[in-house]
Amino acid sequence: MYKIAVIPGDGVGKEVMDAALHILDGLDLNFEYEFAEAGDECAEKTGEALPDETLKIIKNSDACLFGAAGETAADVIVKLRRELDLFVNLRPVKSLPGVGGLFSGLDFVIVRENTEDLYVGLEEYTSEGAVAKRVITRRACERICKFAFDYTLKENRGKVTAVHKANVLKKTDGIFREEFYKVSENYPRIKAEDYYVDAMAMYLIKKPEEFETIVTTNMFGDILSDEAAALVGGLGVAPSANIGEKTGIFEPVHGSAPRLAGKNIANPTAMILSTTLMLKHLNHRKQATIIEKALKKTLKKGIKTPDLGGKHTTTQVAQKIREQMEEYL
Ligand code: NAI
Ligand code: MG
Repeated sequence: MYKIAVIPGDGVGKEVMDAALHILDGLDLNFEYEFAEAGDECAEKTGEALPDETLKIIKNSDACLFGAAGETAADVIVKLRRELDLFVNLRPVKSLPGVGGLFSGLDFVIVRENTEDLYVGLEEYTSEGAVAKRVITRRACERICKFAFDYTLKENRGKVTAVHKANVLKKTDGIFREEFYKVSENYPRIKAEDYYVDAMAMYLIKKPEEFETIVTTNMFGDILSDEAAALVGGLGVAPSANIGEKTGIFEPVHGSAPRLAGKNIANPTAMILSTTLMLKHLNHRKQATIIEKALKKTLKKGIKTPDLGGKHTTTQVAQKIREQMEEYL
């Protein structure tokens, strides 16, 4: 039995969470869900965007499903990543039928370091402007690279590509590149290569089919993963996972989309794919595949939300996927 914390959050977060749970209910899973609050509405009600009670529920669970927060996102999700030491941000880039991505047939992942780099927020004003510090530790480089290789092995893939700018950031990215190749020695059957980040920004458009696992530091990963999401159809279909030693938070890349909220037209795909990442993380690979297959079949039939050019509601899409799943059970 797994304990799953569920935080629908704000705006479309609640709608896509309902859709995802409806689909999970169609599978024979031994999950115990515990609902918790966080986000703008929670802050209005309780005075806190991330109450201690919510943090406690997440800490006591095996995994957490998160919808989206609104304006308080930084106080919620960014804080959670740090508080729970969720050092991996995993973003699969996978083509789906009928979503109008720039490419078809893509299937790679970006593994982004989630705890340090320029995002530690060590900025200060100086007499001439401002300075930001970039923090890179050997420990964080080693563990993110190790995760990337282990994931590649588990997914039966053959190559890991490190992305950095060690020609200019000689010390910080020098350490990242060094640790990457050190870790790679333990995985003789997986090819290890590295690219400069500027070149990678171009290659993601020129030859994205060549990549399998990309591993990089926090800010480069932030930027490249948004670029990569555009290759396969954008925000409505982009899932992510934040993974640490103890637990993981699985969430769509998108936010609360206030203009869509309450209309039952948000695309549930990103949230549904985030639940498949959770299932795989909990070694429920078979169930994850059932959802993926049903989702693809549903999209192929043209059953999709307006952002993808369809005319179906969030609820209808979820119902169709659940019906479709019956075929694969
Ligand atoms: P957003 O991701 O909410 O929306 C960006 C664009 O994508 C909008 O045009 C929206 O309509 C569209 N979109 C997003 N999700 C969609 C879905 N499921 N189906 C169809 N279309 C979808 O980002 P935005 O507008 O920058 O921020 C809105 C709020 O969300 C802000 O308060 C922001 O702080 C918060 N936010 C929260 C995040 C989180 O909880 N992890 C991440 C990003 C933003
Ligand atoms: Mg981003």
